[in-house]
Amino acid sequence: TAALYFSHELLSWYLANKRILPWRMNRDPYRIWVSEVMLQQTRVDTVIPYYERFMDKFPTITDLATAPEAEVLKCWEGLGYYSRARNLQAGAQEVLSRHDGIVPDDKESVAALRGVGPYTSGAIMSIAFNRPEPAVDGNVMRVLSRYFLLEDDIAKPATRVKIEKLAASLIPEGSAGDFNQALMELGALVCTPKSPGCLTCPVMVHCEGRRAGMEHTLPIKTKA
Ligand code: ADE
Repeated sequence: TAALYFSHELLSWYLANKRILPWRMNRDPYRIWVSEVMLQQTRVDTVIPYYERFMDKFPTITDLATAPEAEVLKCWEGLGYYSRARNLQAGAQEVLSRHDGIVPDDKESVAALRGVGPYTSGAIMSIAFNRPEPAVDGNVMRVLSRYFLLEDDIAKPATRVKIEKLAASLIPEGSAGDFNQALMELGALVCTPKSPGCLTCPVMVHCEGRRAGMEHTLPIKTKA
């Protein structure tokens, strides 16, 4: 049906079309973590050079945990939202003190790290460890609201919970990391906020939002 079609077609599209990005070179959970924190409020093109510099300067979690905070902030200069950098370093210090410097691979421990919310823990668990956890951010809520014609207000916490359950149910067996990145990639490259590229979309034929002519109306979001 529409759900199975979505998962299969989206994953195939991603495997054929994914961008080569510096955090996709391996599955080191520390590298994934840094990338997801940088990508939370910043575009991919902007993040790339910062990410490369950051990983050159702090190649391991121990390097980050033991660096002077001022050096970490200097490396973050221009990315903004500096609390992200402080929390990331605090999280690295927690991994060093509580987990012998190894990023834990259970979601409760990951979610307990400083600065790691539901999105980031889902991204780390799925991309680094291939666990079937959803990683739902604004892009993913937009894509799924359109495809499944969900008129729930995405500003409401209950909607995120509902979409997380839906996203989890769509993950193809054994492909959690690729599938979650496929959702992000579709939201970034095709199913964009203002001008969705339905004509090049790999899942257009079963998209309920498009069928209803609502691709520009969805997702519904009340407060800013
Ligand atoms: N945005 C958030 N996470 C991403 C990822 N892993 N790849 C590309 N864009 C992203």
